[in-house]
Amino acid sequence: MSSDFQILPSILAADPGKIIEEAQTVDIPEIEYLHIDVMDGHYVPNLTMGPHIVTSLKKHTRFKLDVHLMISNASEMIPVFAEAGADIITIHQEAVKHLHREIYQIKNRGIKAGVSLNPATAVDTLRWVISDVDLILVMSVNPGFGGQKYIPAMSEKLATIAKMKREYEANFILEVDGGIDKHTAFTAYRNGARFFVAGSAIFSHQDRKRAIHDIIRSIEKQKSDGKTYRV
Ligand code: DX5
Ligand code: ZN
Repeated sequence: MSSDFQILPSILAADPGKIIEEAQTVDIPEIEYLHIDVMDGHYVPNLTMGPHIVTSLKKHTRFKLDVHLMISNASEMIPVFAEAGADIITIHQEAVKHLHREIYQIKNRGIKAGVSLNPATAVDTLRWVISDVDLILVMSVNPGFGGQKYIPAMSEKLATIAKMKREYEANFILEVDGGIDKHTAFTAYRNGARFFVAGSAIFSHQDRKRAIHDIIRSIEKQKSDGKTYRV
């Protein structure tokens, strides 16, 4: 892919009764990953998808799978989601007792390991795993539901993490999740995000390809101002 960023459709916003057909509506060359939100009704106040959905999406689509675990017992479930076919597993810093250990539980299975932070969580802990993680996910809404508004202060948080990345010469992907659409994506891009999760901004439209292209174009258009946006 020639672009320096990508959009990850969040299947949470799709019709759960026809998840495979819904996934196929975003099957265009620009899309490499699907984002899968796993919620346990305990860590977050909602219940969603389990490993069988991951297995099914792996079997019936060509996408890589970005699995976002919003669960209290990530330590026990990492092997299950690894087995189901996850390509990235992201855990919440707030939900695990032994962050470094869980990162390696993921990486040792040959899967990319991500760490996610809720909007009010400080970034300081990341310093101590900054060379270990493959991805850092900034939640730009409170986790649990799609269709919420992007929290503007999260742009500064992205910028802070992007600065840490430069300082420590780290290699992780900076991902943003929540309220991303054609109006908010560029702010997140300018502040360092390169993986953009989008749920309702894609699946609430009949024409999903167009919705994705609208988000891509909204970033490309503003990037053409000639400035370099370092990460
Ligand atoms: C929220 C989830 C998000 C959600 C995003 O807890 O982590 O991935 O699907 O949905 P939108 O793009 O609608 O904010
Ligand atoms: Zn998510």
